[in-house]
Amino acid sequence: MARAGVIIIGSGIAGLMAAHLLADDFNVIVLTKSKLTTSNSKLAQGGIAAALHPNDNWKKHFEDTLRAGYGHHLEHNVELMVKRAPELITYMANLGVPFDRTKTQGFKLGMEGAHQERRIVHADGDQTGKAFVMTLLEKIKGRVEVMEKTEALSLVKENGQVIGVQTDKCLLKADFTIIATGGIGQLYTYTSNARTTTGDGMALAYRAGAMLSDLEFIQFHPTLLLHQEEVVGLASEALRGEGARLVDENGFAIMSEHPNKDLAPRDVVSRKIYDYQAAGKKVFLDISSIEKFSERFPQVFQICQRAGIKLDTSLLEVAPGAHFISGGINTNEHGETSLPALYALGEVACTGVHGANRLASNSLLEGLVFAERAVLDIREKAKSLHFKGLQFLLETDLTQKEESVKLPSLEHLRMMMTQFAGIKRTEAGLKKVIDWLRPYQPWLEQKSSFAPKQMEEANQLLIALLICQSALARTESRGGHFRLDYPKEQEGWLKTTLEVKINQPIR
Ligand code: SIN
Repeated sequence: MARAGVIIIGSGIAGLMAAHLLADDFNVIVLTKSKLTTSNSKLAQGGIAAALHPNDNWKKHFEDTLRAGYGHHLEHNVELMVKRAPELITYMANLGVPFDRTKTQGFKLGMEGAHQERRIVHADGDQTGKAFVMTLLEKIKGRVEVMEKTEALSLVKENGQVIGVQTDKCLLKADFTIIATGGIGQLYTYTSNARTTTGDGMALAYRAGAMLSDLEFIQFHPTLLLHQEEVVGLASEALRGEGARLVDENGFAIMSEHPNKDLAPRDVVSRKIYDYQAAGKKVFLDISSIEKFSERFPQVFQICQRAGIKLDTSLLEVAPGAHFISGGINTNEHGETSLPALYALGEVACTGVHGANRLASNSLLEGLVFAERAVLDIREKAKSLHFKGLQFLLETDLTQKEESVKLPSLEHLRMMMTQFAGIKRTEAGLKKVIDWLRPYQPWLEQKSSFAPKQMEEANQLLIALLICQSALARTESRGGHFRLDYPKEQEGWLKTTLEVKINQPIR
């Protein structure tokens, strides 16, 4: 039977969920530049938020999401997401995700920053992301095509509609394309993200003419684990939810003056630690109050073991680092981008559900909810389609370019972004990065400028430039965007979204 074809770029929770839901009725191919099992989702520790406690309800989850994100949301999409959460947890449990259970088989509910109720559902202690990814991978086995180690170089369009993807191996054509490639953590020196999070999906969409928005809102997670000045992994916020405290070298609890103490919003905690470190002081997570640490937090325990961090003092040295970008490829409530037949899901998308600062454990949830919504939309659209199906064209028009443009070093990029577009920003600092990258802009914006092996590098430089341009334009501070020269929130910016589109100045 003829079936419509869908290309999914990326193998995190959003891409895999879409693949699973589409697999029975569509020809689906999942592309990834690394391995199927490499993704940020797989690293996710804390869990997934859902109003399941008897004292909780979707309205409280909605309120917390808005408060943590400073009101800069598309409230309609937030409502869709939080209302759907409990049913999706049940769906995923039935699919086989081994959620941690109470003695009476209810879901164990953890606590994280800025939540007013216990609502973090988790699996295998702090290995929730891995449990989701492995369950979905098992489900799609044999039902979808997979191409690993395949880089998406550009989107292919016909009459304004996206009709496929040029990869470094072949040209793929399909009726629908979904970008689910995750975020941008690798633009910064310290990050909790997988090595593959290099802004590729955003760069693909931007070069094809799709709208991107809210790129200035970057969440820095307060507690990356430091060992010998290197980041070795993440120490989940759930640790603070279970009683761990941030202390300085003298044992002083550094968040003691905040009404929410250690569970204050992430941007607030990260700035506090940043200030300590800027003054040459160290900050530690004191985990002495956590019982059965290795059982409740096996992933953090393993990270410590692998890195050689000694746990005898119960003090883990921490530092903030890039964790999540709230902005991305602009989508509507169905995950559709501004380009026909192109969808964006998960962290790469800007659905408006995170505002200026994502609420803890809302990211896996966003991935699932919008994957489901996009699949419903694709099903509906496919009804009136004359299918092209899925086509692999091996004779590509890919020019085997040699390195054409000499690009600046990524190490320098990370240093510049961390210093000037990181936790605290100024006009002068942002302009430094922009002035440094601007000469490359004409090349970075063209899909044909680079050899395939340079693409990942070019993507990072391009997205860094767009982040800095957006951060320069937003003359206020809000959540994940803090300007030392405009340190206050401005009412006029509350719902103003900065949109970026190729050949159009930011507005
Ligand atoms: C964490 O476990 O602290 C990270 C979870 C999240 O970012 O939502």
